[in-house]
Amino acid sequence: MNELIDLITDEMKKGFAKAGYDDKYATVTVSNRPDLCEYQCNGAMPAAKEYHKAPLEIAREIASRLEDSNIFESVEAVKPGFINLKIQNAYLSDYVNAMRMDHERCGADKVPNPKTIMIDYGGPNVAKPLHVGHLRSAVIGESIKRILSFAGNRVIGDIHLGDWGTQMGLIITELKLRKPDLVYFDPDYDGDYPTEPPFTISELEEIYPTASKKSKEDEEYHKKALEATAELQKGRRGYRALLQHILDVSVTDLKKNYKRLNVSFELWKGESDAQPYIAPMVKMMKDKGLAYESEGALVVDVKEDSDKKEIPPCMILKSDGAALYNTTDLATLVWRMEDYHPDKIVYVVDKRQELHFIQVFRCARKTGIVGPDTELDFVGFGTMNGKDGGPFKTRDGGVMRLSVLLDEVNEGMYERIKSNTELSDEEAKKTAKQVALAAIKYGDLMNQASKDYIFDIDRFSAFEGNTGPYILYTIVRIKSILNKYKASGKKASAYSIQEPASESEKSLMLILSRFNQAVRVAAQEMAPHKICAYVYELAEALNRFYHETRILSEENQTLQGGYIQLLDLTRRVLEQCIDLLGFSAPERM
Ligand code: ARG
Repeated sequence: MNELIDLITDEMKKGFAKAGYDDKYATVTVSNRPDLCEYQCNGAMPAAKEYHKAPLEIAREIASRLEDSNIFESVEAVKPGFINLKIQNAYLSDYVNAMRMDHERCGADKVPNPKTIMIDYGGPNVAKPLHVGHLRSAVIGESIKRILSFAGNRVIGDIHLGDWGTQMGLIITELKLRKPDLVYFDPDYDGDYPTEPPFTISELEEIYPTASKKSKEDEEYHKKALEATAELQKGRRGYRALLQHILDVSVTDLKKNYKRLNVSFELWKGESDAQPYIAPMVKMMKDKGLAYESEGALVVDVKEDSDKKEIPPCMILKSDGAALYNTTDLATLVWRMEDYHPDKIVYVVDKRQELHFIQVFRCARKTGIVGPDTELDFVGFGTMNGKDGGPFKTRDGGVMRLSVLLDEVNEGMYERIKSNTELSDEEAKKTAKQVALAAIKYGDLMNQASKDYIFDIDRFSAFEGNTGPYILYTIVRIKSILNKYKASGKKASAYSIQEPASESEKSLMLILSRFNQAVRVAAQEMAPHKICAYVYELAEALNRFYHETRILSEENQTLQGGYIQLLDLTRRVLEQCIDLLGFSAPERM
């Protein structure tokens, strides 16, 4: 469906042309003075410079040419040369009825040229518990994925597990100390390894921090861990088998956690999957004469003349020949390009890793791993802070585990929901989880991703104000009216949305009519916070309309049926939007 703003702009262009002015000045925007008008055009001001005329005079000439427009109810030229616009009621209700008839997408178009887009997000490190630092990547990445996919693109989310670092060597070292007789440690063993892992997830989660602590205190232990890592990376059989167990156990646990967050990945690849690509990639870089030795290490220069700050060379191999984080990300790009030929790859990672990605992107382009037709994008997010302004911690100052945080928020929400309604215990529990997730996700996504924000669960959980629960509450309110209407034996299907009769009804329709524009912009800018801003505006307009209108007691069936259709369209748009944000609404709350 054409965006309303484009239809208005086209109409405005006709006015400019009829009055003899260049229609490039006919840009229309949503009014910043909703008390005066609904849309506005400021083009008479720049036109005045070209045509050496007073802007107000130009605005008046144009306004008079648009008097018989079937889009505008009024076109008013005001000082110093603004053109204030109001939309015709019938035009607006036709527009929202057309949205209503689009059962799948409420009028939102797909992009004309769909792309294959890979999103690298989540990025948890295997065997280390998932903590809140990984929350933002999962929440933002999932929403961006849904927005881009709704826009019609083919989107592939890859979790990019951190499964290749020294944490693996640490776990192996500690395990060897505790259970030296395990067959994995016997270098001469050449049979099959057991299919059952030699540890549970809780053991694994205890082993890693223990080993990590020991290695910081004990030089000898540290050396052993590094050796184990190197042997693993060289492909020692028993260690590879252990790695597989660590992965299996961790991934099962990670999947549970992500499921609670309503986050899912198309690909469960990890850093280890990049390893086979490293050697040929390094050879290629050397053959092309781009990788050279510097102080023993192998590097590729990535600085550019226009750089304002120093961009150090991208290190490919350390002096001992070991691969680095850069190397893994570059080799990952090799298989991503080979296997998926993406038009775009988006990284949703902590903004403190920006320099790393500048180096990796430049190096990938310079060495030809990524060609000019593939866009590389870094969506860096800010830190989630506690109320004290410092990084978010547990009450006793430790690192907050994601599962613990979710439990706490669910529990608080359950207490609240239980005391508020007549829901069964089971429904209250399920609803609490839904509302808690909305609180957490909306509290994060409403901020521009790059900004730090304060995780204040009390504020995020409020049922009033700009929060996830408020949006859900609005949807539940609509559902309840729709159910009551239905329960009275009536059917709205014969009715359509009527011309707006009040200011609040018109305002609701105007905001509804901006749905396709809102999702297009959010997709173009990969900006979930724009969906949040839209959804909040829409929820507020709905509640204003609801408070000022008698809906269920309206006796005129045509009017009432029209209200019901308007509410149902609003519900559909709201539910579509929260689905893009990655949460859903209950039936009651
Ligand atoms: N595992 C990394 C970390 O916890 C994040 C990975 C981000 N993605 C990437 N391709 N480097 O910091």
